[in-house]
Amino acid sequence: MNVLEAIRTKRAVRAYRDDPVPDEVVRTILHAGRRAQSAKNDQPWHFLVIRERDTLRALAATSPNLTYIAGAPLCVALVTPLPSQKQTILFDAGQAAACMQLAAWELGVVSCLGTVYEMEKARTLLGFPRDRHLHLLVAFGYPGPGDERPRPGRKGGRRRLDDVVRWERW
Ligand SMILES: Cc1cc2nc3c(=O)[nH]c(=O)nc-3n(C[C@H](O)[C@H](O)[C@H](O)COP(=O)(O)O)c2cc1C
Repeated sequence: MNVLEAIRTKRAVRAYRDDPVPDEVVRTILHAGRRAQSAKNDQPWHFLVIRERDTLRALAATSPNLTYIAGAPLCVALVTPLPSQKQTILFDAGQAAACMQLAAWELGVVSCLGTVYEMEKARTLLGFPRDRHLHLLVAFGYPGPGDERPRPGRKGGRRRLDDVVRWERW
């Protein structure tokens, strides 16, 4: 799969088979995140890898928008410095997430980002220190039956090019 095809076809998938993601595939995904660009090459991230089923279930239970994580064999939490320190920190974390997700897609591993609204619950579960922040995590796995996409009330697909592009001046 080339880059253009991966970008064109990748979708958020929230239902996974029970099969674990093999260690070498996990490492390939993590390397892709590590190679992401970042402002001033700060690389403001740690990738906290979660595979224990009990932890995944507990994390999923922290917030209704994260329920699918309970069924994922793998979740990577993007732990960063406090975003108040630098405006680009969450942007950088998003880039690392995108690199991991695209690499995974090429390898047949699907994923879905998750927004952490209950950070203190996540902190208690995962043990990251108080000077660190967790806004985003990514669930990974092999696609399973029952993917709920498209969700009721949510638009599928993407806006048309003419709707999102302005040429030269607004
Ligand atoms: C920053 C960010 C946060 C997201 N948070 C969640 C989330 O908390 N729960 C969820 O189910 N999906 C989450 N998503 C996934 C989006 O809903 C998904 O990428 C979007 O609907 C497009 O899906 P598609 O690529 O399958 O069309 C998030 C995506 C992004 C980029």
